[in-house]
Amino acid sequence: MCGIVGIVGTEKVTDRLIDGLKRLEYRGYDSAGVAVLNGSGLKRARAKGKIASLVDALEKDPIDGHAGIAHTRWATHGKPNINNAHPHFAGKVGVVHNGIIENYQDIRRELNGRNFSTDTDTEVIAHVMDEALKSGLTSKEAFSQTLKKLRGAYALGIMVDDEKDEIFAARAGSPLAIGIGNGEMYLGSDALALAQLSRELIYLEEGDWAVLSPAGYEIFDENDQPVKRDVTVIQAGAMSASDKGEYEHYMLKEIHEQPITVNATLKAYLGADDFTETARKIDFTAIDRLVIIACGTASYAGEVAKYWFEQIAGLAVDVDIASEFRYRQPVLSKNSLFVAVSQSGETADTLAALRYCKQAGIPTAALVNVMTSTMAREADIALPLNAGPEIGVASTKAFTSQLTALATLAVLAASQRAAIDEDGIAKLTEQLSSLSNLVSKALTTSADIAKLAEALAPAKHAFFLGRGAMTPVAFEGALKLKEISYIHAEGYAAGELKHGPIALIEQDVPVIVIAPHDELFEKTVSNMQEVAARGARIYLFTDEDGAKAAGHMAHSVIVLPKTGKFLAPLVQTIGVQLLAYHTATALGTDVDQPRNLAKSVTVE
Ligand code: M6R
Repeated sequence: MCGIVGIVGTEKVTDRLIDGLKRLEYRGYDSAGVAVLNGSGLKRARAKGKIASLVDALEKDPIDGHAGIAHTRWATHGKPNINNAHPHFAGKVGVVHNGIIENYQDIRRELNGRNFSTDTDTEVIAHVMDEALKSGLTSKEAFSQTLKKLRGAYALGIMVDDEKDEIFAARAGSPLAIGIGNGEMYLGSDALALAQLSRELIYLEEGDWAVLSPAGYEIFDENDQPVKRDVTVIQAGAMSASDKGEYEHYMLKEIHEQPITVNATLKAYLGADDFTETARKIDFTAIDRLVIIACGTASYAGEVAKYWFEQIAGLAVDVDIASEFRYRQPVLSKNSLFVAVSQSGETADTLAALRYCKQAGIPTAALVNVMTSTMAREADIALPLNAGPEIGVASTKAFTSQLTALATLAVLAASQRAAIDEDGIAKLTEQLSSLSNLVSKALTTSADIAKLAEALAPAKHAFFLGRGAMTPVAFEGALKLKEISYIHAEGYAAGELKHGPIALIEQDVPVIVIAPHDELFEKTVSNMQEVAARGARIYLFTDEDGAKAAGHMAHSVIVLPKTGKFLAPLVQTIGVQLLAYHTATALGTDVDQPRNLAKSVTVE
C-alpha cells in the first residue's frame, strides 16, 4: 500500500508530484505529503486525509523545488494523522516509504539517544541514515549502510539536505519503478504514477537500490554491485487513467462497462474459430492439479473456477488465500500449475505465494489486469484480464474478467484433456460468446435493485446464501456490501447455515439468496424456508423460473437473465454488485474510496 512519487531535475516539481500522487490514491488515502529540496534545505507539506487536503495545505503554504518526493499513505503503524504522514524527517534526511520495517522496534532501541516524533515504523529509516551521515559517510554510503539494517518490506524514496540534488531509491518486497526523462529522473510505485512523466521505465528488482540525479541514474544490487536493468517502454495510452464519464462514481461506471470488458477478456482467450495463442500457453494435459492463489475478491473468482475446472474438465483445483498459503507449508507437486489471480498484480501476499512456488520449482501463471505488474513479470506465464484500469476500490469489472478468463480456460482444459466431446466444447464456447449480452441484460435490473437497496440500507447485518458455484458469489456479495456500505455482511454456503450461523437469524434480518433455477434450486429453497421460519426478510436473486417457483417466499425478487449453469455465477454477480452499490449510495458512503481500504495491498 502507500504510493510514492519522486522527481529530480531542473524544473519545478510540486504540481507534478501531486499529479502523480493523484494517480496513486488507489493505494491509500489516509494522509499525503510532499518534500522538496530548494537550495534552502528540505521543506515539507503534509495533510491528513485525501490528496485534496494536501493541495489545500499547499495553497496556503506553497513549497517548490527542483527535486521532491511525495507519498500517499495507507496507515499500518500509527494513526492516520498529520504527524504520522510521510515524508518523515530526521536531521538532514527525508524519507517516503511503502512497506513495513519489521525490526523498527529494535532499531529504535539501538538509537535510544534519538527523539522519535511519530508512531511509524518508517521514521527509523531517516534516523539510521542521518546517523550514518553524521559518522562521515557519503550519502551513497550512508544509504547502502541503512538498507543493510532494515528487515521487512520497503520501496523507498529518500532525499538528503546536502549540496546535491539526488533521490535515493530502494526496493525489497514492495514495487518501485524508475522513469527516465530528459535532464530529469523520476521514481514511482508503478507505471501509472509516472504516466504523465515518462514512458521509459526500469522496474527495480528485489534488493536493488538506485541513485537518481538530473544527469541520470545508477543502479546497484543487494551486494552493492552496479547492475544494468532492462528499460521497458510503456505503450502510449496503456496507462491513460479513465474518467467517470456520465457516471456518479467510478464503481458504477465500471459495473456498466462489464458487457465490454468481459468481451475484451474473452477475445484474449477465444478467437473466432479456436482458443488463442495466449490461452494455449497453458498445457492442461501436463498437469494434474491447479493451485489458485489470490486475496479478497480475486480469491472468490478462484473459488468459482474450482467448480468449473472440476466439473467441466475433471481437473482438481485447490484454492488458497494467499496470506495463509506459504505459512502452512503446503504440499506441492511438480505436476501442478500455480495460478496467481490478481487485478493489480502487486498484492504482497499473492506475489509472495508466487515466489514461493517458483522457488519450489512449480510452474507458475499470473492472471492479472496490469501486465506491467510484478506478478506478470515474474510468473512463467502472464495472462491478461484486459478489463482496463479499475479505479473504484471495490473490484467489479476485474472480478467478472477474472471469471471470464477462468471460465474460458476451464473449457480449454476440458478440450485438451478430452473431458468432454467436441459438441460439448462447442456448446460451452457458444455460451461464452453470449456472455456480453447476458451481462447487458443483467444490468437492466439496476432500478429494481436500487429499490431493494433502500429497504436494505437501514440493516445492521445481512447474510448472503448460495449453493454450488453460487457460494463464492454469495461471499463476493457480502464482501462488496461490507466494503462500501459498512453493513456487516456474511456469505455462507446455504447448507452450512444450520451448523451455527442460523443462531443469528431473527425477525427482519435480511438474507440475500442467490439461487438461479438449477439442479440445486430446491435444496436452496429448503434453506430459505428455514430462515423464513425464523423471521428473516428474504431477498431472492434468481431467474424467471426461480421467481415463478419461489418468488412468493421472498420480500423482493430480482430476476436476472436465465443462463445455463455454466455462466450463472457471472450473471448473478452483476446483481450483488448493483446491490452493494445502491445500498452504499442510499447510505451516502464514499463509494470509490471506502474508509480504511486501499486498492492495491502491497503489505502483508
Ligand atoms: O489486486 P488484487 O486482485 O490482488 O487484490 C485483491 C484484493 O485486495 C481485492 O480483490 C479486494 O478484496 C477488493 N477490495 C475487493 O473489492
